Amino acid sequence: MNSEITNKPIGLKLRVVHSVRLAIAAVARFFFTLYYGAEGEKLPPITDDILKLPAVEVAKKIRRKEISSVEVVETCIRRIRDINSALNCFVEDRFNLALKEAKEADDLVSSGTKTEQQLAQDVPFLGVPFTTKDCIGVKGLHLTAGVVLRKDVIAEEDADVIKLLRHKGAIIIGLTNVPELCMWWETHNHIHGRTNNPYNTTRIVGGSSGGEGCIQAAAGSIFGIGSDIGGSIRMPAYFNGIFGHKPSRNIVSNSGQYPIPQTELLNSFLGIGPMTRHAVDLKPLLNIMAGDNSKKLNLDAKVDVGKLKVYYQFSNDAPLTDPVDPEIIAAMKKVVEFLNVKHQMKPVEIKIQQLRQSIAIWLANMKNEKKFGYFIMKNDSIYSICKEIFKNIIGCSGNTLIALVTALFDYSGPKIGDDKYNHFLKKRDELEQVFKDTLGDDGVILYPTHPTTAPYHNEPLFRPMNFSYTAIINCLGFPSTTVPLGLSRDGLPIGIQVIANHNNDRLCLAMAEELDAAFGGWREPQKA
Ligand SMILES: *[C@@H]1O[C@H](CO)[C@@H](O)[C@H](O)[C@H]1NC(C)=O
Ligand SMILES: *[C@@H]1O[C@H](CO)[C@@H](O)[C@H](O)[C@H]1NC(C)=O
Ligand SMILES: *[C@@H]1O[C@H](CO)[C@@H](O)[C@H](O)[C@H]1NC(C)=O
Repeated sequence: MNSEITNKPIGLKLRVVHSVRLAIAAVARFFFTLYYGAEGEKLPPITDDILKLPAVEVAKKIRRKEISSVEVVETCIRRIRDINSALNCFVEDRFNLALKEAKEADDLVSSGTKTEQQLAQDVPFLGVPFTTKDCIGVKGLHLTAGVVLRKDVIAEEDADVIKLLRHKGAIIIGLTNVPELCMWWETHNHIHGRTNNPYNTTRIVGGSSGGEGCIQAAAGSIFGIGSDIGGSIRMPAYFNGIFGHKPSRNIVSNSGQYPIPQTELLNSFLGIGPMTRHAVDLKPLLNIMAGDNSKKLNLDAKVDVGKLKVYYQFSNDAPLTDPVDPEIIAAMKKVVEFLNVKHQMKPVEIKIQQLRQSIAIWLANMKNEKKFGYFIMKNDSIYSICKEIFKNIIGCSGNTLIALVTALFDYSGPKIGDDKYNHFLKKRDELEQVFKDTLGDDGVILYPTHPTTAPYHNEPLFRPMNFSYTAIINCLGFPSTTVPLGLSRDGLPIGIQVIANHNNDRLCLAMAEELDAAFGGWREPQKA
């Protein structure tokens, strides 16, 4: 369909490497299955119906005095206490302050100084409790990003997004867990430990907004805020069966997040966005989080889903990632069929071959002046990293093994400004143009969020490149929404991402709402 889409066969050497890697991953899967043969931990059922409602409905009930904000906050506190021993997703609370703020919200409602309509206009999330990850600043709470060196760092100020949401009445109740320096797709660090998947605690929650994806799936808070530089909202949303939106580049302020990207280019890859059980919450939250930039997104314009141009691609065929799970392919086909039956749409299958180079493009574009090791250790020399790896093996390191390996890996590959680096920058620009030509003003692409369902704990070490499906979209700056599409045979969430052209976030969000209604969206974890 596009002249720039070429089909180059992959070389023999890569094919051999790929086969060896798949064989190692398969053997590893066998041992993980033996090791985790056990059931995993049980999660108590959700007994309070308020936790199952969209945030916008909870807000409406508070405005109408059908429930008080204090009751909603207390319900979240109870739920968090019920689930956290099994899941370890929630790492720090501000419950007392939150209850005080909830009382103030209730007082404002009962004072009658504003009508229900004025409240909806001025403070649309009045009294609604939410959580965010431990790398987005919340005044008075820790801001560790999972790095032991930062275990005593306290945020002096709210991050911009937190300020904006609180200004619209929402109440922050605490922080959720992240991987070390937020740079891996399993949520584990040596301050707070490892977070477990609510659908099966033997599995990962993804990363880096892993604690947030987990707590939303388990209904511990009413909505969540994550951030995404390689899939950190969309992967955990996917592994935990919820919705997550990475906004268009340079729309939501990253100020107040740690680590903050060092260059404008890297900053454009990072997006802070909403994570929710219900698609209908994404748009009003993004509208607030975007601040003055929300004008650029034209979010109030009506989107007729039936008039969109829909494209889909099943796989990136990248050399070092796993093939896409047949259950995910089947789910995508059902979406295509649904759009055809309901709207008489004819979604078009595409094969953008350049996506094969997703990881190489992302890795090169992610190169930073400061080395990864600088952020997690005091000394980032190769010698110090190797020494720390040895300490890790004998159990005396504050760093996780994967973070140390990443620090070592950061010494390889292209260097900023060299020919290879410039080559991949150019590749990125070319790929962006291919997407833009395909998407136009009224197009969306359906694409896997990840090739498999949630792997076992530690298993990502054997499948390091499987996040290529999300990472490439960060380099290209497009908005993308993870949409859950039910559970696999093993009871684990599956889903897809919906990608649109720059600042066309409303198209992703409209498609997410359409598919939420048609496919049932979020499912309560471990429900018999
Ligand atoms: C979790 O996974 C393990 C290992 O695959 C399996 O034996 C167990 O039945 C699963 N538990 C649930 C609740 O599905
Ligand atoms: C990574 O993806 C490949 C297919 O692309 C799959 O075979 C493998 O199981 C995945 N690995 C992990 C750890 O998810
Ligand atoms: C890091 O360690 C190396 C080797 O031990 C040493 O030469 C260097 O001075 C150290 N750098 C810093 C910044 O401490």
